[in-house]
Amino acid sequence: ATTLGSAAAAKSKYFGTAVAAYKLSDTVYAGILDREFTMVTPENEMKWDATEPSQNSFSYSSADTIVARAKANGQRVRGHALAWHSQQPGWASSLSGTALRSAMVNHVTAVATHYKGQIYAWDVVNEAFADGSTGARRDSNLQRTGNDWIEVAFKAARAADPAAKLCYNDYNTDGVNAKSTAVYNLVKDFQARGVPIDCVGFQSHVNSASPLPSDYQANLQRFADLGVEVQITELDIAGSGTAQADSYAKVVQACLAVSKCAGITVWGIRDSDSWRASDTPLLFDGNGNPKAAYTSVISAF
Ligand code: XIL
Repeated sequence: ATTLGSAAAAKSKYFGTAVAAYKLSDTVYAGILDREFTMVTPENEMKWDATEPSQNSFSYSSADTIVARAKANGQRVRGHALAWHSQQPGWASSLSGTALRSAMVNHVTAVATHYKGQIYAWDVVNEAFADGSTGARRDSNLQRTGNDWIEVAFKAARAADPAAKLCYNDYNTDGVNAKSTAVYNLVKDFQARGVPIDCVGFQSHVNSASPLPSDYQANLQRFADLGVEVQITELDIAGSGTAQADSYAKVVQACLAVSKCAGITVWGIRDSDSWRASDTPLLFDGNGNPKAAYTSVISAF
């Protein structure tokens, strides 16, 4: 029978999902996960608060469970996320300056080293640019350590796990706009100065406030033209029925049309698993039955 993973694989793409470790004992959830998906992203388990709850004391058991299970099922893993302003442990969120900078480098190095050789791509830095028309960096404790914090994180990740692709990941960068152009310029700058960067992740959280842009494919293509891989990393599309199904098909068509688009990850399995469940943004309903959007994705491949 056709699955999301096999349909994507027939076009040399992966099809992934976010996974929550605590749901793996749910047999409906695990059954869909094993049947349909070829890539896995831990939804929260690799974040700073989860992996380093006290400074320099690391906690990998939930993420290790996801990684081991993925490996046993022949699924690859996207690592998410090494350096981010959000979901920091309390001790880190109250640090600043050189103490925070050193703690960040130590964190990136430790986590990337722990998973060395097991990660297809790391979201090394997540959501570092501001929304709106300025193209500026987002203010955060990490940003206040100095503008070079992003390249320092990428260099530390490369040193720790040279085989992993290193991605910059963000939201509201799905069309051509000031924020995505700021990311585009960051990639160009890194390439010009020899800072490692291999891929850009487009979260693609689609809802009425952030509809699917008409230049979605063109935006992916301009990044691909820089030579980086592009990945759709956290796709979910609010809605239902034909409208939702059509938007999902457009995302698949865009990835298919861009040869450097490696694959698509949806941000959860059933609507009830979603971080915004009331939007019913995923491919399976709360009972685990495939929705119109599921059929649409399969046919679009
Ligand atoms: C979300 C998770 O889905 C939730 O479970 C958690 O409470 C908050 O974070 N952008 C990201 C993801 O990069 O890590 C976020 O995941 C969703 C937005």
